[in-house]
Amino acid sequence: MMLIRYKKSFEKIAMGLLSYMPSEKDLKKLQQTIKQYDSDKNWQLFLWKVDEDIIGLLGGVWEDDSTFKIHHISLNPSHRGQGIGNSMVKALKDLYPDKQIQSNKLTSAFINKCEQEGSE
Ligand SMILES: CC(C)(COP(=O)(O)OP(=O)(O)OC[C@H]1O[C@@H](n2cnc3c(N)ncnc32)[C@H](O)[C@@H]1OP(=O)(O)O)[C@@H](O)C(=O)NCCC(=O)NCCS
Repeated sequence: MMLIRYKKSFEKIAMGLLSYMPSEKDLKKLQQTIKQYDSDKNWQLFLWKVDEDIIGLLGGVWEDDSTFKIHHISLNPSHRGQGIGNSMVKALKDLYPDKQIQSNKLTSAFINKCEQEGSE
């Protein structure tokens, strides 16, 4: 399993996964969000691939050269509760070992939880 960079051909699956975020229930908002990931280079979206299936999503914004803030994290419901969400956060940190990975209001509950587990 691995994090892959979002590209336009994954738009449908990415929108499906994004819609699990409580903030993305409205279709207009969801379309705006995916457009932002498509068009603004500071916004970066990753997908979590297991074999040939895409089951998770992690995205956010580079606040500056050294800080990435996670705005979206979601997983297909049939794969939850097995540590995959935690693995996605860890994979992002491994990809950017020199950068600060932060969360926002909507993702902090889970990201903080991952941090606690990482330090146990
Ligand atoms: C958040 C999400 C990606 C977690 O994925 P996951 O693979 O099930 O998570 P993990 O198995 O790695 O971790 C599970 C632990 O995180 C906790 N957790 C799950 N969702 C959480 C949330 N929204 N806030 C805080 N903790 C959460 C679980 O209670 C569990 O704790 P435990 O180990 O003490 O039982 C998944 O639940 C999801 O897609 N949710 C819908 C989207 C969403 O709400 N995203 C924003 C989250 S703040």
